[in-house]
Amino acid sequence: MNILVIDDEKPQRDSLSGFLKKRGYPTATAASGMAGIAHIEKHQVDVVLTDFRMPDQSGLEVLKAIKALNPTVDVVLMTAYGAVETAVEAMKAGAFDYLTKPIDLDELELLLTKIQERHYLISENEQLRKQLAERYKLPNLIYQSRAMAEVASTAARIASTRASVLICGESGTGKEVLAKAIHYASPRKDRPLVAVNCAALSDTLLESELFGHEKGSFTGADRQRIGRFEQAHQGSLFLDEVGDIPLATQTKLLRVLQERAIERVGGNQSIKTDVRLIAATNRPLEQMIKKGDFREDLFFRLNVVTINIPPLRERREDIPPLMDQFLSRFSKENDRGAMQFSKEAQDLLMKYNYPGNIRELENIVEQSVVLARGDKITTADLPSIIRQLPTESNPGLPEFSGSFAEQVAAFEQNLIRQALIQTDSVQRRAADLLGMTERHLRYKLQKYRMKD
Ligand SMILES: Nc1ncnc2c1ncn2[C@@H]1O[C@H](COP(=O)(O)OP(=O)(O)OP(=O)(O)O)[C@@H](O)[C@H]1O
Ligand SMILES: [Mg+2]
Repeated sequence: MNILVIDDEKPQRDSLSGFLKKRGYPTATAASGMAGIAHIEKHQVDVVLTDFRMPDQSGLEVLKAIKALNPTVDVVLMTAYGAVETAVEAMKAGAFDYLTKPIDLDELELLLTKIQERHYLISENEQLRKQLAERYKLPNLIYQSRAMAEVASTAARIASTRASVLICGESGTGKEVLAKAIHYASPRKDRPLVAVNCAALSDTLLESELFGHEKGSFTGADRQRIGRFEQAHQGSLFLDEVGDIPLATQTKLLRVLQERAIERVGGNQSIKTDVRLIAATNRPLEQMIKKGDFREDLFFRLNVVTINIPPLRERREDIPPLMDQFLSRFSKENDRGAMQFSKEAQDLLMKYNYPGNIRELENIVEQSVVLARGDKITTADLPSIIRQLPTESNPGLPEFSGSFAEQVAAFEQNLIRQALIQTDSVQRRAADLLGMTERHLRYKLQKYRMKD
């Protein structure tokens, strides 16, 4: 709490400010109302103690000028003993309180404690109000389900803090969307949100990506590089697929988080960084810890707050609003007029299990928009995996045609095609989804000549 003492008499000024400084309040002084106001214009001031009787401007005038400039500054007037009328007038003009001279220091201190408490209350109130406003309104997060309302409310509540957040959820559930929502609902929103995909880089590359490197620190490091941690200074760092960080890098990351400072690869200078960490993973970190693939201490650093995003099949109420949103976006992107799903198509979309979650729903809607013949998207326009969902009229048995081998091959190709659709054609993910190795998947792709 910054205090400004305004008094034309130097001994008075000095003794008051001396006392306040000793009590730990940053205190400035001014010898006149004009000088005081000039100070407030340039510096952060929370409380003003001003003398009432001064030669060029009365304390009352000073009070009014300060309130006009910044109504949140609390002004305390110091009046002569017995000047009750001026005191009343001062209170009416918005003074926080008044003290009679000679100033009783105990009384002054009590008053300052009261003001401080009020400041805390105000800022706490402000925070609460903001949180309430944000709670149901995280940008770009579409949902209807209670489960997601819960997720959004937690996200909104913790957004304003510096706590590390771990977002867990299956592929395509919206982990990145949520990470962005948290950053943009946080006080760091005007600073960068820097994302690193930890799965996409080899050990050494990941380290230089995160921490930067000095010129010549390894072959190929032909110039200095500023790492993501430094780029994210005062902002947020999004560590995507954090479960894929190799153990050696985990150890370094842990140290950085403990010390809040990084060292560039090949450098020896410790650089302070103030970064809010948001991590995401679709891997079972607890199991990885048991197997020794993930450091438990790092896990505890990352998951100060854990948010689990449930899979789409467990919150089907979210399907309709998401569908609507994707439909209007893709019909616009494809220069088509207002489009709609037929009732039957909607029913099928509500029934499907979405192993690829929201990303898959998004892809399905896009495909349907592109393929639809009219403004109404019918079941015939839906991708085959949805069309083939068992309904009452179609219990889901395949038509019998061709040899056993041919049918198995067709079935396999269909599975692989769907897995690729669900994963944006990322083969590693498609293999995961199918529970096979990436090598095996590549073999199948070659066998069926399915590559592009
Ligand atoms: N609540 C939501 N509202 C609107 N769009 C969403 C929502 N959640 C996810 N999406 C969309 O779904 C897609 C997948 O989301 P995102 O990339 O955040 O998922 P993810 O969990 O990070 O997936 P992965 O594990 O595969 O990286 C994105 O295109 C995103 O725009
Ligand atoms: Mg992601």
